[in-house]
Amino acid sequence: MVEIEVNGLMTYDRAVVKLPAQAAGEIARLYAPPATSGTLQGARVTRAPFGTTPAGEAVDLFTLTNAHGMEVRTMTYGGIIVSLKVPDRAGLLGDVVLGYDSLAGYLRTTPYFGAIVGRYGNRIAHAQFTLDGATHHLPANDGANTLHGGTVGFDKVVWDAEPFWGDSGVGVAFTHTSPDGDQGFPGKLEMRVTYTLTDQNQLIVDYYATTDKATPVNLTQHSYFNLAGDGSGDVLQQVMWINAGRYTPVDSALIPTGVLAPVAGTPFDFTTPTAIGARIAADDEQLRRGHGYDHNFVLDRAGAELAHAARVVEPGSGRTLDVFTTQPGLQFYSGNFLDGSITGKAGHVYRQRNGFCLETQHFPDSPNQPGFPSTILRPGEEYRSRTVFAFGVSP
Ligand code: GLA
Repeated sequence: MVEIEVNGLMTYDRAVVKLPAQAAGEIARLYAPPATSGTLQGARVTRAPFGTTPAGEAVDLFTLTNAHGMEVRTMTYGGIIVSLKVPDRAGLLGDVVLGYDSLAGYLRTTPYFGAIVGRYGNRIAHAQFTLDGATHHLPANDGANTLHGGTVGFDKVVWDAEPFWGDSGVGVAFTHTSPDGDQGFPGKLEMRVTYTLTDQNQLIVDYYATTDKATPVNLTQHSYFNLAGDGSGDVLQQVMWINAGRYTPVDSALIPTGVLAPVAGTPFDFTTPTAIGARIAADDEQLRRGHGYDHNFVLDRAGAELAHAARVVEPGSGRTLDVFTTQPGLQFYSGNFLDGSITGKAGHVYRQRNGFCLETQHFPDSPNQPGFPSTILRPGEEYRSRTVFAFGVSP
């Protein structure tokens, strides 16, 4: 059995963890009065310029540090997590996410390194969906389909941002309004996404949105993790546990067939912790279609409470990552499209499977899949979602 501590609550594998509700009011309280930097019992948040977009928009970088020295750097462009430094077994800090040293790299080309993804994370088939009788057309940016919100998703906009600090930690609150018709999506979507760094080495991501017309919303975080450290090669030895008895098999364009298939007896069974690389080259049609793992797992969970979704252990450094989420799905992407064409931080060349993503989400193509949980947000409703990335070490 695996013990986990979240905000002082002890729990065990597969248990549901309740964190204190982080309501809009709390966020509002936390970030009043606005300031450019602040501290909390050894933790701190600072803000500094990080460059300018080609359109002339200023981009700022926030550095969150907790009492143990864990550090998260994130910028207003795309809400991108630029670096995430966590201790290993010996207490040495290492950056466990892929990316670039400066804004220029992210502006040039990026497979969504570290970004907030939306309005609809993952794929929408044939770049269209029908809602309340009206068909909406989106940009096709992944073959015939729409990926990660279209050609200019939320990963490519400059968000407004304010730092905050309070009882739960230090953080940054990003806000952005996506206008009615943005990338073909109906409704003006007003969003707030917060990153909170706690003294328990957790990064809490909270999403909040409202709309003035019914629209699909599926926001996620697209960090590429390598728990051995950025630039340390592939992640195939890192041991993955996913709390999912089913997944959503895909067609050749990675659109779900609509079936929720059992993982039992397949290379998709991570209900027992297994090295990412153990079965990745197996003779399996789904692995061939994904060029590895690039699939949505149907999390085993009760209701919409925060639940344990995944755990990754890196045997060498001892670093561990536990993911908790209120979302029903988890896209496990094993960095299959990294092909050595990107040179990232400190000259590191990113080759296939040099990082993995665990994108908490609703299922892909939900707007066209009546059998999947709905992603439609309507006027008067509030979109609220939370994901916790909790770091630790195994003995
Ligand atoms: C997601 C998709 C992958 C790939 C990456 C970005 O994880 O599922 O197929 O497009 O984003 O490269």
